[in-house]
This record gives sequence, C-alpha cells and structure tokens, in this order.
Amino acid sequence: MAKKSVWSDNRFWQRTAAWITGFASVLLIWLTFDTSGQIVMGNDADLQNGVTKRVPGPTVINYKITYEMDAKRKHEVPVIGEKEMFFGKDDWNEEEAAALLHLGKLASQTKNCMNCHTLLGNGAYYAPDLTKAWLDPAWQETGPMQAMTGKSTKEEAMAEFLQNPSKYPTHARMMPNLGITADEAKGLVAFLKHMSSIDTNGFPRNFGKIQGAVNGK
Ligand code: HEC
Repeated sequence: MAKKSVWSDNRFWQRTAAWITGFASVLLIWLTFDTSGQIVMGNDADLQNGVTKRVPGPTVINYKITYEMDAKRKHEVPVIGEKEMFFGKDDWNEEEAAALLHLGKLASQTKNCMNCHTLLGNGAYYAPDLTKAWLDPAWQETGPMQAMTGKSTKEEAMAEFLQNPSKYPTHARMMPNLGITADEAKGLVAFLKHMSSIDTNGFPRNFGKIQGAVNGK
C-alpha cells in the first residue's frame, strides 16, 4: 500500500487543531491576568512613595503631570512630579478625590462627550481626543486659554471653557454649550487630569507632536 502523506492525514489535522486551541487558551488566560494586574488602579500610598502605576490613584490630581519622552520605549509617558494646587488645594484625600472623579465620570456620560470626542480611543472623531487634553499646552500659562477665559490656573480655565465653550471658539469647529454646572465642570477637569496621567503606551500617537506638549512645564 502506498504511504499516505501526512498532509492528507485527518489525525494530523485534528491533533494540530487541538494543540493550537489549547495553547491559545492558555496564552489568553495568562494575558488576561497580566493585563488585569497592569491596569489595576494605584492608591495614595503609591503616589507618596513614588511607585509608578499605569493607572495612578485618584489623588494624582494633587500632583503636577508632565509628558516626557521615554528613550527606551520610544514614546512619551506621563510623569508625575511635585505637588501642585488643584482648585485651590493640594491635599485632596483619597475619598474626596475619588468622589470628584466619580462626578466627572458621570458628567462625561450624561453629557455624552464621546458623541464628539474620543476618550482613551473610544468615541467619535468630530472633536479632539481627550485622553491627554489636560497636557495640551494651550491650557498652560504660555498658552492662549488662560488669558482667553480670564483665569489664572489651568483647571479654572478648563472649567470655565467647559461651562461656556461657545464663548471661546478656538478651532474651525465649535463645542456647543452642554449645560454643564460649575460642580460638574470641576469633576470633569479632575476626570481629564486623572486620565492624562494614565500610561497609554504613547497613545494618542500624534499628541506628542503638538508643539510644547513634551517636557511641558
Ligand atoms: C457636540 C460635540 C461635542 C460634545 C458633545 C463635547 N465636545 Fe468638547 N469639543 C468639541 C469641539 C468641536 C471642540 C474643539 C473646538 C474648540 O476647541 O473650540 C471641543 C473641545 C474640547 C476641549 C479642548 C480640547 C483640548 O485639547 O484643548 C475639551 C477639554 C473638551 N472639548 C471637553 C469636553 C467634555 C469634557 C465633554 C463632555 C462633557 C465634551 N467636550 C463634549 C465638541 C464637543
């Protein structure tokens, strides 16, 4: 009897399929645990001890965040620096900070920011991605937004813009007034500041190319 080629052997394909399925399952389970471990939110103790977490705790709003080139990883990463004031205080405790972020998150959902913007890549492409909006040089002392809104801090300028966006047209497209209250605006700015501190592996890719975004003060 002529020897049958291995390629036309049913048993060979059955075994191959079983091995590949088994290997892929193990790999997926391992990756799931690895990812969960990496994206778990840090806490205040981490921040005080300078422990770097991919998703820092809510009290990161007490700290200055800059965007720096990481030569080894070949993209920018958020760097948490010294303490800085956020709406007049730099000692938001874990509960207060978490409550403020929660308010901001709820406001971002009820006002549907994602209808126009992307947050961490999710949403619409009508308006700029908000993942690193807090680090946008436009809001810094040297940028136009503080003068335009008549505010002397980044957070107050952003909160003012969010409450009255149609008063401050900066691009060809304008953001409409969404009826955002002063409290919601404060929460939203905290939400945006926290989001900018997340290490997103350099996403969005084009953000670091904005003049002044990297090594910004
Ligand atoms: C109907 C569409 C629309 C919705 C909904 C919307 N925006 Fe905007 N937003 C825009 C447009 C367009 C711009 C750019 C125009 C400008 O800067 O004047 C903008 C700009 C911004 C900026 C400035 C971006 C930067 O990098 O400096 C921030 C911050 C912002 N929006 C936050 C929000 C938040 C938070 C929400 C949800 C509460 C929201 N937007 C909902 C359309 C929208």
